[in-house]
Amino acid sequence: MVYAGIIGTGSYLPERIMPNSELEKMVETSDEWIQSRTGIKQRHIARDDESTCDMGLQAALKAIDASGMDKNDIDLIIFATTTPDQTFPSTACLLQRELGITNNCIAFDVQAVCAGFVYAISIANNFIKTGMAKSILVVGGESLSKIVDWTDRSTCVLFGDGAGAVVITAQDNPGIYNSVLHANGSHANLLEVPSGISRPGNSPFIKMSGSDVFKFAVTSMEAVVDEVLTGTELNQSDIDWLVPHQANKRIITATAKKLSLPLEKVIMTVQDHGNTSAASIPLALDVAVRDGRIQRGQILMFEAIGGGFAWGAVILRY
Ligand code: ACO
Repeated sequence: MVYAGIIGTGSYLPERIMPNSELEKMVETSDEWIQSRTGIKQRHIARDDESTCDMGLQAALKAIDASGMDKNDIDLIIFATTTPDQTFPSTACLLQRELGITNNCIAFDVQAVCAGFVYAISIANNFIKTGMAKSILVVGGESLSKIVDWTDRSTCVLFGDGAGAVVITAQDNPGIYNSVLHANGSHANLLEVPSGISRPGNSPFIKMSGSDVFKFAVTSMEAVVDEVLTGTELNQSDIDWLVPHQANKRIITATAKKLSLPLEKVIMTVQDHGNTSAASIPLALDVAVRDGRIQRGQILMFEAIGGGFAWGAVILRY
């Protein structure tokens, strides 16, 4: 039996940090409101000339270095993003060029907003299981600051920029045990950028019905963490670390409670990064791998929900 396993992680955050105090000067809000509702203290903001691919490149270089692989042995690049550099080519193709990979490997983007990394990991798992790929670079990267309306206090306090990456290879033992993906497009208007290429609208910015998103997120995350364990040999008590999408501390806390996990077993970076959408799980993962909390052989659960709605979870042995 062939399994997919993570053999290297990397991440990148833009240099500029925007604390809540800076937002207090831009919109009618307060550090106290932001922290008590979301847990966020600060976020990183990309330079005007710094793109999603630029950030993904830095994260990918670190992940490839950590994996010990030759970059030209990578046979698939999946880039999860909702803020691509260009309409086309895909950010994955641009990244292949920037990495100097010359082996004509497969490269494509995945668009599932905040669930993008979970979708990308699940796709990578299936490429490995079917033998279509053996060594995969999965990147989650976002420049959300470029689609945030900085005059809208209900959204601008939530988001940040950054990128994270993992290298996944085929191996004889798990690895990824299971992944579950879902989407429900009937909720599209609750969290959206309502304009695009083929349907130009009147706003290029994120619009969100926060309390509706909150309620759906808590319910769907509670269900999906049970679902992803079903059919595996694992139970809730086997989970060493929950590495959740970092949207809101209250959503994460509710999911941890559902799993009977103490918060000490949850990797939480939302306070420092804000919501970085598809980048948030690989960013959190890399932070905890590099600070020594996550160790080889431990059981990890990823879960995420984003616009669509699209959501999912993955359970794996690191
Ligand atoms: N500062 C101060 N007051 C604010 C701010 C702000 N930044 N934003 C909204 N308010 C006000 C509102 O205007 C409202 O005032 P009112 O009662 O006078 O009308 C009041 O605060 C309460 O607003 P709610 O939206 O009901 O506040 P809530 O407790 O729901 O918290 C929040 C808002 C933090 C956005 C919450 O709903 C949430 O986290 N939702 C999920 C959002 C999320 O995670 N989105 C991303 C997930 S998917 C993805 O990652 C893309």
